[in-house]
Amino acid sequence: MPQLASRFKTLPAYPLATIPQKKRELAARGVDVIDLGAGDADMAPPPKAVEALARAVHTPAMNRYGFGLGLVAYREAVSTWMQKRFGLRFDPLTEVVPLIGSKEGISHLALAYLEPGRLAIIPEPGYNAYQGGTMLASGEPYRYALRPRTDFLVELDEIPEDVLRRTRLLYLNYPNNPTAAIAPVDYLERVVRTCRERDILLVYDNAYSELAFDGYVPPSIFEIEGAREVAIEFHSLSKTYNMTGWRCGWAVARPELAGALAKVKSFVDTGQFMAVQAAGTAAIESWAEFVPPNVAIFRERRDAAVKAFREAGFECETPRATMYLWIRLPDGMPSAIFADRLLDEEGGVVMAGSAFGEGGEGFFRISFITSPARIAEAAQRAGRLLASMSAVGVAT
Ligand SMILES: Cc1ncc(COP(=O)(O)O)c(C=O)c1O
Repeated sequence: MPQLASRFKTLPAYPLATIPQKKRELAARGVDVIDLGAGDADMAPPPKAVEALARAVHTPAMNRYGFGLGLVAYREAVSTWMQKRFGLRFDPLTEVVPLIGSKEGISHLALAYLEPGRLAIIPEPGYNAYQGGTMLASGEPYRYALRPRTDFLVELDEIPEDVLRRTRLLYLNYPNNPTAAIAPVDYLERVVRTCRERDILLVYDNAYSELAFDGYVPPSIFEIEGAREVAIEFHSLSKTYNMTGWRCGWAVARPELAGALAKVKSFVDTGQFMAVQAAGTAAIESWAEFVPPNVAIFRERRDAAVKAFREAGFECETPRATMYLWIRLPDGMPSAIFADRLLDEEGGVVMAGSAFGEGGEGFFRISFITSPARIAEAAQRAGRLLASMSAVGVAT
């Protein structure tokens, strides 16, 4: 039997990987499954994106290799949008990297910067691509627990000196998945300062920049002075435009950093399908007509979710961004057992906090990705399970 690499052997199973199969089995048994697991809403993408895709697939040139350059119009749309939305100028050709979903770029970037003995600071709970990318690049993850104590912020001055000295990458994601936390500007300023002092590459994952409520407008990391020196920022069409399956995103950074990611990609893919880039261009250009009403739907779902889960006996904050509630469990109630039993006994899919790493224990995440009525039904089911687990003490 060929030996697996040791870096591969230590990779944990990917948390969402087994859920589709389990859902199928339950549905086959006639269970009415309510899925609040993945951050994958049930609404439609922008009609203009769908039309652009249809046109593009009928254009022979669009069906050829995109290579790293891809569709120049897509790079230009990204550049124009970054200027309009954040007031930041990025050169379309040297400072924008089209991605096959932002996950792809986030995990591939580590191949350019990590090696044995070099560390990446990884927020935990956190998006699993940070740890996957780090481990596949033979880097060493240093996990920092995101807890209410620090408002779910990574506080770099709590990290030991010998760790910081060996750190090459810091992954940050605000608005945050899964905690829904947001980062104040003075916090981001402190982080950028430390990254500059220490030559740490700040990998800023801004997948939820457009999904914010109640007047909150998430910033780009590049609004922080000095960030261009040390940061790369990732954006995604997945959540903003209900286009998770299309696999379309981008990174922006100064040419040296963008070029490093583009070079890794030149050896592992041959570019995003250009028809999808044509659709992505149309989506980005439809921001003003599409995004605000779409966010209003999420807001209605958020309010319904907060109300329903509180009424069902849970404790959670009202998030100002993302499509998630990060819901506390009673002390000592293991989140994995809660999530497994919710699926098996009640047909409800949620993510155990521990699925995002040990630092996520004590919580579970729901995505408000379906109608308020279905969310309310899921909350009732979860409340029933909470009551029965609480009644028998902690069900370990
Ligand atoms: C924090 C975060 N970053 C990145 C992504 C990846 O998005 P994409 O679909 O663009 O790969 C997700 C998806 O859930 C996410 O939650």
